[in-house]
Amino acid sequence: MTLEIQEQVDLTPYNSFGVSQTAAYFADIQDPGDLRQAREFAGSKRLSVMVLGQGSNTLFIKDYPGLVLYMNNRGTEKLPGAGLLRVAAGESWHDLVKFCLKNSLYGIENLALIPGTVGAAPIQNIGAYGVELEQFFVELEAFDLKTGEIRHMSKADCQFAYRDSIFKQDPGQKLVVLSVTLQLALEFAPQLGYAGLAAALAGREVTSKGIFDAVCAIRSSKLPDPKQIGNAGSFFKNPVISRAKLASLRESYPELPAWDTEDPELVKVPAAWLLDQKGWKGRQRGGAAVHENHALVLVNRDNASGEDVVLLAQDMSSSVLQSFGIALQTEVWIV
Ligand code: EPU
Repeated sequence: MTLEIQEQVDLTPYNSFGVSQTAAYFADIQDPGDLRQAREFAGSKRLSVMVLGQGSNTLFIKDYPGLVLYMNNRGTEKLPGAGLLRVAAGESWHDLVKFCLKNSLYGIENLALIPGTVGAAPIQNIGAYGVELEQFFVELEAFDLKTGEIRHMSKADCQFAYRDSIFKQDPGQKLVVLSVTLQLALEFAPQLGYAGLAAALAGREVTSKGIFDAVCAIRSSKLPDPKQIGNAGSFFKNPVISRAKLASLRESYPELPAWDTEDPELVKVPAAWLLDQKGWKGRQRGGAAVHENHALVLVNRDNASGEDVVLLAQDMSSSVLQSFGIALQTEVWIV
């Protein structure tokens, strides 16, 4: 089948911020054959190429002059080997969580309601409520836009870290995730490390459905639904600082929360808490605003442009740098 490549496509429905920018070229990708054709097309016109899933972690600040690949391949396959699933990149992550719940496959119930596709999950090693994707990751298949070959990448190849992977570190690699293979558990073992989750379940029998429901309830109470108001979840990563820096900050801010990391010398502090001290919740700039319930979430309140969002984000990070001497890093991919 010949791949249809559209021109001058409005990206509003393809990014969860709902900003209106245009892609010069746009292709709906259903299988590796489509990617081969897209690669030839981009090569012949010398176009840059970018990959979109549900656009839930992407902020467009300009029109995109190249070819957008909208990953729309589908399928969830049980592989030989108990609890092993191969899932196409274009599947919705939350649908996969529900599929696992139904099929008594355990582990990812803590990752309910995370927006985005399965293919996007390894890019930033999605995580929430004490669980990260890498715990279940076995391998992925990726189409290499440089060579046109399909590669199999192991967990080590992907170099997962907090909201990070090889796919973010070397954009020149141009790898398009086609499918992700995960190992789920056959026996339920609740992961209640996140204090708010344990509190929500206190006094009840803990089941995977119970965790799923509690996570959905916590997320819905704090994080705005992108279908109702444009946003991309946390806009910044939680910064990692030294214990010495934490001690000096706590002289002025004794309440500053902090969590241990794998490195005993380093701790993670909540960016939302730092922003909250500076009174950012609810503030607006142009059409962009900080969510009323969570200082880490920027929303498209009133026809915001990508630039409105970025200008607001810059003011927020400057204020944190000035007051705490901490440079925030964006979590959202700015295009
Ligand atoms: N807090 C404030 N003010 C606020 C919001 C939170 O002071 O406006 C404080 C809370 O009291 C809490 C701390 O900040 O002590 C952390 O808040 P929360 O539990 O809401 O989590 P977070 O650190 O802001 C991270 C992830 C979320 C994930 C939650 C739950 C990052 C960048 N964000 O948020 O992921 O759902 O933990 O595990 O790591 C995302 O990546 O888009 C995302 C939403």
